[in-house]
Amino acid sequence: MEIKKVVVPVAGWGTRSLPATKNVPKEMLPVYNKPVVQYVVEEAQGAGLTDVVFVTNRNKTIIEDHFDYNLALEDVLKRTNKMDTLKMVHDVAEMVNIISVRQKRQLGLGHAVLCAKAAVGNDPFALMVGDDLMFGMEPGIKQLMAVAHSEHMPVVGVVEVPSDKVSNYGIIRGDEFAPGMYRVRDLVEKPKVSEAPSRLAIVGRYILFPDIFEHLENLSPGHGGEIQLTDAMKELAKSNRLLAVKIRGQRFDTGDWSDYLTANIYFALQDETLRDDLVQRLKELLPYKG
Ligand code: G1P
Repeated sequence: MEIKKVVVPVAGWGTRSLPATKNVPKEMLPVYNKPVVQYVVEEAQGAGLTDVVFVTNRNKTIIEDHFDYNLALEDVLKRTNKMDTLKMVHDVAEMVNIISVRQKRQLGLGHAVLCAKAAVGNDPFALMVGDDLMFGMEPGIKQLMAVAHSEHMPVVGVVEVPSDKVSNYGIIRGDEFAPGMYRVRDLVEKPKVSEAPSRLAIVGRYILFPDIFEHLENLSPGHGGEIQLTDAMKELAKSNRLLAVKIRGQRFDTGDWSDYLTANIYFALQDETLRDDLVQRLKELLPYKG
């Protein structure tokens, strides 16, 4: 079983990040010196995924352009002898193959995944939601691929969240059969704290098999009137066909301003040419009360 394709839905409005996202796709907001979506594609590439299926809309074409050559820019960089920058710009276009499908109406995450059906074909595939950035020793999606591979089953990534955050996520109920690994019994999309079956929240990393499409095709709108991927996975759980794995590593939800800004600092601190200056500036700002 070889997984080569990853579906990355990018057709959402990004309302949490307005007004920054009024005309700029949320996936193109920079985290330090790269757009959010580039980190996602780098994680996919790090896991050996070669084909990225963007589920996109008419306002998001600059996302595909980011992973294409910009020959006019490369020409300017060559002529001005900015060879390091040239390499950086050029390499992004060499990372992965890009397949683009349109989500003509934004009817939910489940609907976005269904739009990728023809592009995915008959093999298991990865799904990465662009808002979530994950960093660890091993790419988050690779941790799930290893389990899907050994168990031949769909796998969803989870992290433990504080109880006041459970209503922002799909929450699983599962039996832990090995440390950090769960057989999923049920899932609830964005439950109230009082109704959440656990604090294990689905993060935007999944390994799915083509049978998910049948479940998605038969779904009625769920939470928020949207076609919910969580509801399709509920069907998998019913037939004992879904595992969850606690992803190890640092996670940032870039749709949350606090996480987004922390992610910027996290990456900037790893740049030695910036670190000392940045730390000094942050120290100066700390007494600031507004
Ligand atoms: C989606 C899923 C939700 C999951 C979340 C992770 O929600 O529906 O189950 O927990 O992604 O980022 P969204 O954030 O698109 O509302």
